[in-house]
Amino acid sequence: MPLLEVKELSAYYITHVYGVERDVKAVDNITFSLEENEIMGLAGESGCGKSTLLKVLLSMIKPPLRVLAGEVNYSYDNKHFNLLTLDKKQLREVQWEDISYIPQGSMSTLNPVRKIRKTFEDVIKAHKTAEEKEEYEKLMEEHIKYLGLPLEVLDSYPHQLSGGMRQRTTIALATILKPKIIFADEPTTALDVIVQRGVIQMLKKLHKEQENTMLIVTHDMAVHANVADRIAVMYAGKLVEIAKKETLFTNPKHPYSQFLIRSLPKIGDKRQRISAPGNPPSLANPPSGCRFHPRCPYAKDICREHIPKFINYDKSHQVACFLYSDEIEEGEKIVSESIRS
Ligand SMILES: Nc1ncnc2c1ncn2[C@@H]1O[C@H](COP(=O)(O)OP(=O)(O)OP(=O)(O)O)[C@@H](O)[C@H]1O
Ligand SMILES: [Mg+2]
Repeated sequence: MPLLEVKELSAYYITHVYGVERDVKAVDNITFSLEENEIMGLAGESGCGKSTLLKVLLSMIKPPLRVLAGEVNYSYDNKHFNLLTLDKKQLREVQWEDISYIPQGSMSTLNPVRKIRKTFEDVIKAHKTAEEKEEYEKLMEEHIKYLGLPLEVLDSYPHQLSGGMRQRTTIALATILKPKIIFADEPTTALDVIVQRGVIQMLKKLHKEQENTMLIVTHDMAVHANVADRIAVMYAGKLVEIAKKETLFTNPKHPYSQFLIRSLPKIGDKRQRISAPGNPPSLANPPSGCRFHPRCPYAKDICREHIPKFINYDKSHQVACFLYSDEIEEGEKIVSESIRS
């Protein structure tokens, strides 16, 4: 059984402007699973729904975001539950201890008016008994040192730290209770390359030591090349391909993934890089059928009319494209009907 099984998940931002409903279809019928001890990379261009997907996986759902369908099943040891059905208290127990989160922009988990030590203590206090607390406070210092951060970090306010240091502190906080799954949202974006390398090494070190599972979101394919075992590619709210890293880089199947890989610079290759023509669509009014069809050089009639099913191309490679199968996605109708109810 996979550690995390995401089944037919749909979540839209539903807003009303002057009485007119506007649905941003940011996560649309997504199915995939995370195995124990793997690093999955999630790639896709800005605005395609990566952060929204992570928020739903963590059950951090606030209006106007609404989950319309699907399950997020966590399964480890004697714990088996659908995260989307837990109440607030149950969720608090799960977050940090089983599943934890490194958000996009490190300031959002660090309270700007509290010293970092306090933030760590709050997390420990919320999960451990009074007797365990002392042990964990010792562990907090060891953890900080193990990750190569100076202990002074604990007695600083977030704004006193550099961006890189703050990001590494956020990672230390997310891993203090040794969660089984870590969702990291753009953990290296906005950092310079040297600091980026430090953050990547830190994530890899933690992965090895804690034997956790990571889902790392970034649009930086170099980061995926460095850390991921498998890569999932998202386009306009839908998953279009999942493959082992080596396969995705050498033999991408979906035309969008092909553009994504071919647009990467290669040392010594002076040919012009080709990127996908046109712009990403609005998720409030996505194209009919396959959402990539207006930009796809291989688009045919079926692509304009129907949504391709996410099929097994082979046992470790999935793709949603009519170039490989004529199977049509089920469920589209169910979601659009349930939204009105
Ligand atoms: N609160 C909101 N209300 C309405 N629409 C929203 C809201 N938050 C995000 N969106 C829209 O949902 C879509 C997906 O956004 P999301 O932040 O998940 O994208 P992303 O892939 O993480 O992008 P980036 O790479 O820039 O971080 C975008 O079209 C965005 O404009
Ligand atoms: Mg994002």
